[in-house]
Amino acid sequence: VNTSHQPPLTGSSKEDLFQQRVWSGTWGVTYENQCALRGTSVDLKCEYGYTLGNIVTRVSWFKAQQVSNGLTRVPLSQLPSPPNHFKYIGDYRGNCNLRINNVQPSDQGAYYFNFAATLGSWESDTYAFLSPSVAREGDAVRLKCKSGCPETRKINWFKDGRLVQRSQFQANREDAGSYFCAIQGEETVRSASVDLSVHYAPTDVTLSVSPSGDVVRGSLVTLTCSGRANPPVARSGYRLYKDAAYVSSGQSHVISDVQPRHRGRYHCQAWNNISRSGSDLINSSAVHLDVRYQPMNVSVSVSPEHIVEGSGVNLTCISDANPAAENYTWYKRTEPTGSHFLVHVGSEQVLSLPSMEASHSGLYVCYVRNSLGEGNSTEVVLAMAAGQHGLWHSSLTAANH
Ligand SMILES: *[C@@H]1O[C@H](CO)[C@@H](O)[C@H](O)[C@H]1NC(C)=O
Ligand SMILES: *[C@@H]1O[C@H](CO)[C@@H](O)[C@H](O)[C@H]1NC(C)=O
Ligand SMILES: *[C@@H]1O[C@H](CO)[C@@H](O)[C@H](O)[C@H]1NC(C)=O
Ligand SMILES: *[C@@H]1O[C@H](CO)[C@@H](O)[C@H](O)[C@H]1NC(C)=O
Ligand SMILES: *[C@@H]1O[C@H](CO)[C@@H](O)[C@H](O)[C@H]1NC(C)=O
Ligand SMILES: *[C@@H]1O[C@H](CO)[C@@H](O)[C@H](O)[C@H]1NC(C)=O
Repeated sequence: VNTSHQPPLTGSSKEDLFQQRVWSGTWGVTYENQCALRGTSVDLKCEYGYTLGNIVTRVSWFKAQQVSNGLTRVPLSQLPSPPNHFKYIGDYRGNCNLRINNVQPSDQGAYYFNFAATLGSWESDTYAFLSPSVAREGDAVRLKCKSGCPETRKINWFKDGRLVQRSQFQANREDAGSYFCAIQGEETVRSASVDLSVHYAPTDVTLSVSPSGDVVRGSLVTLTCSGRANPPVARSGYRLYKDAAYVSSGQSHVISDVQPRHRGRYHCQAWNNISRSGSDLINSSAVHLDVRYQPMNVSVSVSPEHIVEGSGVNLTCISDANPAAENYTWYKRTEPTGSHFLVHVGSEQVLSLPSMEASHSGLYVCYVRNSLGEGNSTEVVLAMAAGQHGLWHSSLTAANH
C-alpha cells in the first residue's frame, strides 16, 4: 500500500551518560517502520540487546508528542487512548514488539522503546515510525513486494488467494481483501498478507417501512434506514426526516400508535465521516407513509345559514377518512326527545331538502363508511323558530361520542 511517511522527528535531548553506554557493548534497540491501515491492528517490530549478565527489570514504550517547546516523549499509558489500545507483546529477553489495536490517524508518529536491566539501562535514540494509511475509494494504491533477492523474476500478486493482474490501481470497494506476493514459479513461498481495507461513503441508503403496504391508524410502524458503508454507519450516523424536517437520529424509528398526522414524505440520511463528491451526508430517496383510518371528525354543514319556509336546504356530511368516504346514510329522528327511532332519509353526501316545511323539522345525523369502518356525525336539529313564522333555525346537539 502506498506508504509515504514523514522524515524523522528530532529526538528529545539525551544525556551523555547513556550516549557512552550505547557504544559500550551490544546494548541497543532496532525497529522497523510500519505502515498500517486505519482500523486494523499492527505490530511494531522491535528488538533489543544488552550485555551478558544482565536481567531486564523494566520495559517501556513512549511516543513523541508535540508540546509548545518542541517534542517530548510521553509514556503510552499517559496517552488519551482506549484501554488495550497499546499492548506490549514483547518479552524481557530481547523482543520488544508493540501491538496497536484499531489504528487511528492520531496514532501516527514516532515510538521509542526504553528498558532497564540490573547493570544498566537504555534510552533509545531511534524510533519506529507508524504511518497509518487508509485507502479511500478513488485513492491510488500501489502494491510493493520486497523479495530480498535480486528482483529479476516476475512478481505475482494474489488477492484472497487469487491471482490479480494489477499492482497499481484506484481503490474500489471490491479491491478490499487480503493480499500477498510471490515470485512467479515459486508460489509456495509467499509474503506475509496485507489486508487492504477500502473506505467509502454510504451507498444504497434506503428507508424501509415495516409493515410495508397499508398502515392502519393505531398500529405500530417501524422506519429503518440502511446502507452499505465502510466503516459501517454508527447508530448516531443515521437521521430521519419527515417532510424535510428533522425527526430523530438512530437507525430505526418506531411509531407505536400511528396517527393521521404521521402521514408524509420521509427520508433518511447516513453518515460515516467519509464524503462522496464533497457531501458527507447521504440521503435516501423519499418514502411516502400513508395512514389509513375509518371516517373521523364527521360533521354536518347546513346551507344556507338562514333558512326561510319554502326555500331549499342542503345538509352536507363532511368527514376525514382515508381512503375517502364511500357510502353515506342519512337518518332523521322525528321526536328529538324520547324515541330513538331513526328513519332512513338519504344515501348521498348531500341531503337536499328542496322546500322547507313543517314535516322536515327534526334531528338529522349522517353515517359515513369507508373500507375500514364507519363514523357518525354530530346531530343537527332543524326547527321552526318560535314565534317567527316562516323562519327556521338549525343547531348542533352534542356529539354522542
Ligand atoms: C438531504 O436532506 C437534507 C434534509 O432534508 C437536505 O437539507 C439536503 O438538501 C438533502 N441533500 C440532498 C443532496 O438532496
Ligand atoms: C471526521 O473527520 C474529521 C476530519 O476528516 C475528524 O476531525 C473527525 O474527528 C471525524 N469524526 C469522527 C466521528 O470520526
Ligand atoms: C379530528 O379533530 C381533532 C380535533 O379538532 C383533530 O385534532 C384531529 O386531527 C382531527 N382528525 C383528523 C383525522 O383530521
Ligand atoms: C343543494 O345542492 C345542489 C347540488 O348538490 C344544488 O344544485 C343546490 O343549488 C343546492 N341548494 C342549496 C340551497 O344550496
Ligand atoms: C358502499 O355501497 C356499495 C353499494 O351498496 C357496496 O357495494 C359497498 O360495499 C359499500 N362500501 C362500503 C365501504 O361499505
Ligand atoms: C356515534 O358513534 C359513537 C361512536 O363513535 C357511538 O357511541 C354512538 O352511539 C353513535 N351515535 C349514533 C346515533 O349511532
